[in-house]
Amino acid sequence: MPSLSPSTPLLPADPHSYAQGPPLPHLHLELTIDFARQTLSGSATWQLAEPLTATQDLVLDTRELLIEQVQVGDVAGGEPLAYSLSAPDAVLGQAFRVALPAGATALRISYRTSPGAAALQWLAPAQTAGQHPFLFTQSQAILARTWLPCPDSPGCRFTYEAAVEIIGPERGQLLALMSAENPQATAPDGRYRFRQRQPVPAYLLALAVGRLDFAPLSGRTGIYAEPATLPLARAEFSELNRMVEADEQLYGAYRWGRYDLLVLPASFPFGGMENPCLTFVTPTILAGDRSLTSLVAHELAHSWSGNLVTNATWNDFWLNEGFTVYFERRIMEQLYGKPYAQMLQVLGEADLRHTMQELGRDSPATHLRLHLAGRDPDEGLNDIAYEKGCLLLLTVEQLVGRPRLDAFITEYFARFAFQRMDTDRFADYLTRTLLTPAEAHRLNLPAWLDGPGLPPEAPQAQSARFVAVDDALARLAAGTSPAALRPITTEWSSQEWEHFLRGLPPTLTADGLARLDATFQFTASGNAELLAAWFPLALRAGYQPADAALEKFLRQVGRRKFLVPLYRALLAAPGGRARARKIYQQARPNYHAVATTTLDALLRQAEC
Ligand code: BES
Ligand code: ZN
Repeated sequence: MPSLSPSTPLLPADPHSYAQGPPLPHLHLELTIDFARQTLSGSATWQLAEPLTATQDLVLDTRELLIEQVQVGDVAGGEPLAYSLSAPDAVLGQAFRVALPAGATALRISYRTSPGAAALQWLAPAQTAGQHPFLFTQSQAILARTWLPCPDSPGCRFTYEAAVEIIGPERGQLLALMSAENPQATAPDGRYRFRQRQPVPAYLLALAVGRLDFAPLSGRTGIYAEPATLPLARAEFSELNRMVEADEQLYGAYRWGRYDLLVLPASFPFGGMENPCLTFVTPTILAGDRSLTSLVAHELAHSWSGNLVTNATWNDFWLNEGFTVYFERRIMEQLYGKPYAQMLQVLGEADLRHTMQELGRDSPATHLRLHLAGRDPDEGLNDIAYEKGCLLLLTVEQLVGRPRLDAFITEYFARFAFQRMDTDRFADYLTRTLLTPAEAHRLNLPAWLDGPGLPPEAPQAQSARFVAVDDALARLAAGTSPAALRPITTEWSSQEWEHFLRGLPPTLTADGLARLDATFQFTASGNAELLAAWFPLALRAGYQPADAALEKFLRQVGRRKFLVPLYRALLAAPGGRARARKIYQQARPNYHAVATTTLDALLRQAEC
């Protein structure tokens, strides 16, 4: 990392951002979207809070941007300014530095993105559900800097407005959307304007462009999707408005105006991304029976935990995700009852145990507070923040009771809205405002925050509905035929099937799997979670009838959470390495940079 001379430390210390200098409360973005060249070009104008009284250095984050011109002021034609870029760092990019003159009120940077910009995925028509190209961004954790020069630290917020123009022959058929107030219809001239009135950090900047239709669900909720996907999506998410209402009842008003969902093409690398006003979701949660909507509850909950009160740096990621998982399960409990939420909790705890085992008992990566300096945050963030973070809140709930915890959380969101929060500040606030000294002693926060594994007081969830699944698994192990189990499985949800598949013995043979498949049709399932649990069993047992479905899945789906375990299982299967290499080579252009960075490393490792 290049060393920077100290300048006014108005921005927080963040090991993943070079940004320094005066506050930048507002961004004006003007972008031309060129599908033919796969570039965004235009300008980012940063407004200062007040005119500078003296010359001051400003440092912004950039990565692989081509800077064309830098000017003082907010209109083209302003005084050109000299700037410098530090030597590139593979993860952090380049520090962009200017000396702002006294009197400056704004800085305008004209630039273009490079075709390799990691936040952007440009999709060919064949990679969508329709006949048009598609573009989407994924800025979290530190990829916003690959599509605009910005203070790319979660502790630094600004409001924004944007003017976007799509060029090319298809301009009149494509709709542009951002994490902001959005249009609901396509503009024939390809021009769109956006405004985000609430201050947001750079990782919540988002843009998507495609042949998209809109379906309203209520006065403030709705769904954007490709025309072929919209009817399914509309049915799947019909409870969206009830979710928003349940959230507001729990922790206070929704502060972002509208709440819409955008269903992306299948190459989206995540399940969901909480872009303000417009959550991005993978189409792999369209199961047809609303069984995977807890993911929407999760992204919606981020409208409070994360988007209102934001982790100060990626070391404090658990403050975003742990709260959100806890909140997500409270909403699901409210909407679908305790037994449902308990299933989610048990599955989450199983994921956590698995991750902890992989990381190792004493690994610092199992602490809630992370130390990611010098590392790519994207590689250092895992299930621990989600599930251990949630367990900490469940432990507090057990200690003080729900009414006190709920009052505390409501107050926490109100008090720190639109602010950054770090682990120490949270620990201090929790200890001072919620816990008695005796409770604080019993909770033992240091063990949670800076200790490995799970403290012994961590609760362990039980699910009555999984007892029936365990019973079915036991009968199967004792020789009962799958067909004989059918009657008790007819009412099972995705979660029960997931628990079932995870509970099958790893020693199952291809014949055993064939019998299960004949009865329950796993290979033909339209539920991505079930497929992702089924394929590794098939690979381990060499159950070939699943091969074609697996390949199809790997070619279509870009969700990293599924791809990593599937490629791992494939690499471990007999003859699997060559198959993995071949499929990956063909499928790779369909994956986002977030996924290929991880998978390139996985496949490279397998070579040695
Ligand atoms: N904000 C995260 C996604 C994320 C995390 C992107 C870190 C980049 C870096 C989002 O809210 C999330 O957690 N998504 C999960 C789904 C959720 C239900 C656990 C996902 O994508 O799987
Ligand atoms: Zn999340």
